Amino acid sequence: MFPFLFSFQNSVIVILIFLLTIKLYVEITKGVCKSTKRLDGKTIIITGANTGIGKETALDLASRGGRIILACRDLKKSSVAKDDIVQKSGNCNVLVKKLDLASLASVRQFAEDILKNEPKLHILINNAGCGGTKQQYTQDGLENQMQSNHFGHFLLTNLLLGLMIRTAEKEQENARIINVSSDANHLCRSLNFEDLNFVRDRMAGTFLAPYKIYGTSKLCNILFSIELANKLELHGRAVTVNSLHPGAVYTEFGRFSSIVSTIMTILVSFLKTPKEGAQTTIYLAVADEVANVTAQYFRDCKIAKPSKLAQDSGMAKKLWDVSETLVRLESYEKFF
Ligand SMILES: NC(=O)c1ccc[n+]([C@@H]2O[C@H](COP(=O)([O-])OP(=O)(O)OC[C@H]3O[C@@H](n4cnc5c(N)ncnc54)[C@H](OP(=O)(O)O)[C@@H]3O)[C@@H](O)[C@H]2O)c1
Repeated sequence: MFPFLFSFQNSVIVILIFLLTIKLYVEITKGVCKSTKRLDGKTIIITGANTGIGKETALDLASRGGRIILACRDLKKSSVAKDDIVQKSGNCNVLVKKLDLASLASVRQFAEDILKNEPKLHILINNAGCGGTKQQYTQDGLENQMQSNHFGHFLLTNLLLGLMIRTAEKEQENARIINVSSDANHLCRSLNFEDLNFVRDRMAGTFLAPYKIYGTSKLCNILFSIELANKLELHGRAVTVNSLHPGAVYTEFGRFSSIVSTIMTILVSFLKTPKEGAQTTIYLAVADEVANVTAQYFRDCKIAKPSKLAQDSGMAKKLWDVSETLVRLESYEKFF
């Protein structure tokens, strides 16, 4: 019995040392945005800003004096978030506008409202996302995660691009597009452009499908950033486009899947807080040293490497063409 106890104690010690090493690694490598740049006179749109990383990003950028538009699907939840942001930042220039990325009509309506009422747009943060949700299809016939995470943002960005380029050219300062992706891009090993919405995929409907779809949607965020940056290059790069992994962050993200929720609860003390998780997004939105950086993937406020597939410019171009078709981008909506 004694040797058993001894080895049990040893095992506990080894596990504790292992966990503490991970915790230490997470603490040491955490990126922090040190820029004190103000955003007075700048207009910023943040999707999914009523909670989690998006809300923390909105609070930080509001504290810098920007005009913050919270683009959210739930007006009740977002008006509570708005009041909190206004109270904590002391900035009243924060507003809520309805945007449901899982509806192409809602995206078009939101963009129309912005183009009609906002003379300028300096920063667009495509942050909203869901993960691990049961495979289901929207009224547009697209898979829900694929549409909420990729197709909705693809359409939104295309519709707002003209305004961003005009703003940048007038003010002679690059506008910035920031796509919140994830290291989950590594979960996707191949892209089937004939079946981007997982109708015929052999994994469709299985227990693993939601995670494969999430990884694919996050890969698409990066490929979209690369191709958009390539296209903008032709326009003198008045707008930069970058994507990022925020880290493993303890937010409400677990509400989309009981498995993700369980993992998050077990690992809570190893996860970043939403404020820590927002640092790379804030960095890309304000830091002077990235004002001319484009087509890059960031983690902890540093350039990082996504999967090999996510660096394939041929795939990025093909994804753009297929996405244009699937969101039914009209010729008058196309900037390029
Ligand atoms: N947390 C992490 O560890 C982690 C890791 C890597 C990447 N990310 C990425 O970080 C981003 C923010 O996630 P989070 O952790 O802050 O999650 P969160 O707390 O769950 O926030 C997600 C936000 O996205 C919104 N949203 C989801 N689907 C939408 C739709 N169809 N239309 C409009 N808004 C929609 C949600 O609105 P409702 O409140 O109305 O649902 C919410 O505001 C996501 O893109 C996620 O993929 C997170």
